[in-house]
Amino acid sequence: MEIVFATNNRHKLEEIGALLGKRFRLLGLQDLDISTEIPEDHNTLKENASQKAWFIYQASGRNCFADDTGLEVHALGGAPGVFSARYARIGHPTFPEMEPAAGNIRKLLLEMEKIEQRAACFRTVISLVWNGKEHQFEGVMSGTITREPSGTKGFGYDPVFRPEGYELTFAEMDLSLKNQISHRALAVEKLIDFLMQM
Ligand code: IMP
Repeated sequence: MEIVFATNNRHKLEEIGALLGKRFRLLGLQDLDISTEIPEDHNTLKENASQKAWFIYQASGRNCFADDTGLEVHALGGAPGVFSARYARIGHPTFPEMEPAAGNIRKLLLEMEKIEQRAACFRTVISLVWNGKEHQFEGVMSGTITREPSGTKGFGYDPVFRPEGYELTFAEMDLSLKNQISHRALAVEKLIDFLMQM
């Protein structure tokens, strides 16, 4: 069975492709003839994942899923949330001279300078459009935001996120461990359980 993952990220494709096994042929956007940019203009992870999945389902005529992830800091009312990728660039842009992930981390640590309550979570939503019907799967990883960045592995906010039950930040962990326990892994697990029943 063929299924499309609405991503250009080869690494994500390989990882999920391996988990799905031989029953499914997983295609990425680069395998399709779709050059238009996928719209992603809503204010929630659920709506964005849904928008992307339906867009590709309609453009490709194939069953398809899309993901969207955000970091939610409780003391900041859930920010940066759906705006995680461009946190430092929204409103009055901060740290424009820095590469995006470093600027986002600097802005987050600055916003949280005087905040003691540092609980946060990463949330991934996957939307699957299967034969014209949508199904959503969610994975949440709770943790805390550290006072200083630490570690060099991973990407995004990994250097300042310490998952619950661990002494290390995501950026200090082996990538294989992070990929087993992460928000994305939890959502993908639910997606795979569903697909295995098809
Ligand atoms: P995306 O939906 O996977 O593109 O993620 C949106 C943004 O959330 C990324 O640009 C990162 O800033 C952040 N993010 C997503 N997943 C992770 C993660 O596993 N670690 C750290 N940051 C992440």
